[in-house]
Amino acid sequence: MKRKNKSKIAFKNLLVTGGCGFIGSNFIRYLINNKDFSGRIINVDCLTYAGNPENLADIAADYSARYIFQKVNICDAEKLDKIFLKYDVDAVCHFAAESHVDRSIKAPGDFIQTNIVGTFNLLEAAKARGDKFKLFHHVSTDEVYGSLGAKGFFREDTPYRPNSPYSASKASSDHLVRAYYKTFSLPATISNCSNNYGPYQFPEKLIPLIILNALEGKSLPVYGDGKNVRDWLYVEDHCKAIWRIMTTGKHGETYNVGGNAEMENIIIVQMICDILDEIKPARGGKLRRNLITFVNDRPGHDRRYAIDFAKLNKELGWSPRESFKSGLQKTVEWYLHQKKWLKNIKTGAYQAWIKEQYSS
Ligand code: NAD
Ligand code: TYD
Repeated sequence: MKRKNKSKIAFKNLLVTGGCGFIGSNFIRYLINNKDFSGRIINVDCLTYAGNPENLADIAADYSARYIFQKVNICDAEKLDKIFLKYDVDAVCHFAAESHVDRSIKAPGDFIQTNIVGTFNLLEAAKARGDKFKLFHHVSTDEVYGSLGAKGFFREDTPYRPNSPYSASKASSDHLVRAYYKTFSLPATISNCSNNYGPYQFPEKLIPLIILNALEGKSLPVYGDGKNVRDWLYVEDHCKAIWRIMTTGKHGETYNVGGNAEMENIIIVQMICDILDEIKPARGGKLRRNLITFVNDRPGHDRRYAIDFAKLNKELGWSPRESFKSGLQKTVEWYLHQKKWLKNIKTGAYQAWIKEQYSS
């Protein structure tokens, strides 16, 4: 049977938060080129260390009538309200967050502000739009469910048991979104996704960090015994899932998104070493696996994440397209070709540019 996935809702002015980050920039790139979307995108991002306007420089140049950037912090409720009014916002896709577990252990304060208070401000601004408002989509993580043992999968009805300040703040924001749907009938959907990888990921997360360190001949830090398991999803597959949920999902529902690709960290690190040895051999033919260094474990390190995405598959017809092997190969090759982008990040030039642009 052919599934009908065409949207009945046409969003005219979609506010995307965190659009200069990893997944947000991939989503905007995907959507602006999508024939099923002809509206405007208003990208609200305050450009933290993880936000880089260079990720969307070509989109800003090519789609000036349909792509608007606003450097605004979602913790600033007043400015948000103004933007909702000015651009007649009728839908939100909410990515903006502090997103790195290690940073949330060292300094949790920003996670509470952005992930919880920022989400609250957005919900309030959306609620104030009344009947004009069509959808609030909240992008969340599988980490809200906590840690699995050797068996089992996270389902939408798995109890929340977040273990890090990051996952606890995301869990809190999920609950707020749900509460606004229940109490105020705010049209809302939530997606809880596994680990993403692909182009434009900031090189603090496992995959890009290992690629860059391996290229520079630096040590490759593996936490604990390296046998922690994550499920990995290529970012473009995630973007397609989000759009599918936004256009055909049921209000008030949560959808799990996963890649069917459970991997131990150590295996991923070895795979990256082998891909690089093949396509860009190190001087003297040194094998990059020799750079692997086991380091102290992360406190509260979740052992295993695995996703059951049967609901999204059966009800909305989504499944991941990219295999982990081909996705990782593409990702490594992408980083190899981003000399300027990487230099700007490594030297901090992108931050200096932001300061100069927005200093007034
Ligand atoms: P990221 O860290 O790459 O990007 C976050 C973006 O949000 C940046 O552009 C940053 O400048 C912006 N931002 C941060 N604080 C802000 C604030 N107060 N106001 C406005 N903008 C702000 O994150 P990502 O990896 O792209 O993740 C995006 C979303 O997806 C997050 O909500 C995250 O929890 C969720 N998620 C991520 C993954 C993953 O593997 N990366 C997996 C599942 C869910
Ligand atoms: P990360 O990319 O930080 O994502 P998350 O913590 O949200 O899953 O880490 C992925 C896995 O890799 C996680 O189990 C921690 C581990 N890890 C390392 O072993 N070394 C590293 O340098 C990093 C950043 C992560």
